[in-house]
Amino acid sequence: EKGGYDYFMLKEIAEQPKAVADTLLGHFQDGRIVLDEQRISDQDLRDIDKVFIVACGSAYHSGIVAKYAIEHWTRLPCEVEIASEFRYRDPVLDRSTLVVAISQSGETADTLEAVRHAKSQKARVLAVCNTNGSQIPREADAVLYTHAGPEIGVASTKAYLAQITANYLVGLALAQARGTKYPDEVAAEFRQLEKMPEAIQHVVDSLDPVREIARELAGSKSVLFLGRHVGYPTALEGALKLKELAYMHAEGFPAGELKHGPIALIEDDLPVFIVMPPVEGRGVLHSKLVSNVQEIRARGARTIVIAEEGDEAVRPLSDHFIPIPASTTLLQPLLATIPYQAFAAEVAAARGYDVDKPRNLAKSVTVE
Ligand code: M6R
Repeated sequence: EKGGYDYFMLKEIAEQPKAVADTLLGHFQDGRIVLDEQRISDQDLRDIDKVFIVACGSAYHSGIVAKYAIEHWTRLPCEVEIASEFRYRDPVLDRSTLVVAISQSGETADTLEAVRHAKSQKARVLAVCNTNGSQIPREADAVLYTHAGPEIGVASTKAYLAQITANYLVGLALAQARGTKYPDEVAAEFRQLEKMPEAIQHVVDSLDPVREIARELAGSKSVLFLGRHVGYPTALEGALKLKELAYMHAEGFPAGELKHGPIALIEDDLPVFIVMPPVEGRGVLHSKLVSNVQEIRARGARTIVIAEEGDEAVRPLSDHFIPIPASTTLLQPLLATIPYQAFAAEVAAARGYDVDKPRNLAKSVTVE
């Protein structure tokens, strides 16, 4: 049932346009964003004054992407927290706090316990989940299902993009409830989202050069991933994919932190991936990242740059240039993450590892 692919993961990477399209389906009706289940009143949703996002692994990275969108669209303070840390530090929660729990399986013990702690403190819980009838959505006050379909590969791919998509819908639903976005603005954001499956398809169809780079770099000892704004969680996700599949040391961090320490790691031939912000957001951040690429290149690193087609400022500084289609800044992770998935899968395969079943890992982690 791998559909002609060598691994489920490759099939699941290819299914991402559909996962995103299916997750959007039916969620914009009569000019409004609708959730799947809502056991909390519209008034209570309007009264929310703070958002916490709790999740683990890739779901946590999708939560960092969500933070940028939720704060921008709703003006609500939003914090993202690793679920296993949440309840052990006595977070400040009450009935006007919304805790968004993101989980593909819906059975992750750390996330479930964070949900239970939130509920014991009277916070409202909204679940973003890929598995109907699983425990986390059952215990939540509201649910938005991702429709990635079953994910067999232990490394999350299509579920991750579907989570980002669903998180954006949560952000828009909150903005709509609070009135921080006019209905026509919500509609315009939704239309931007609807354009993404086609752009994702374009990236999925252009991964051969990434695989070539992966085969070339399969012997590396360590790889760094840099980004800013939503490029930062994309960097974290790129590093996690490489760690879990290729057992290679990898680290993702915000490019602005480079000068505060990590630049000391840069040496000859160290592969460094960088995601450039899209043209829409080009301004200070874009030029700062161009300087980062210059700095690391001057120290001998090998720069692998993911940027919009036609980003001529950075192309001459790139040892490898991976073009992606234009998008808004907030939606870019739906495109920029895909080359990292393909890279990790190909490095793992080149090293002779089981791409779908990496060592020491389970698809769903049901113990704390
Ligand atoms: O089922 P969940 O979304 O709650 O799982 C969370 C993490 O265990 C999961 O994302 C894990 O990090 C993946 N192996 C990442 O590829």
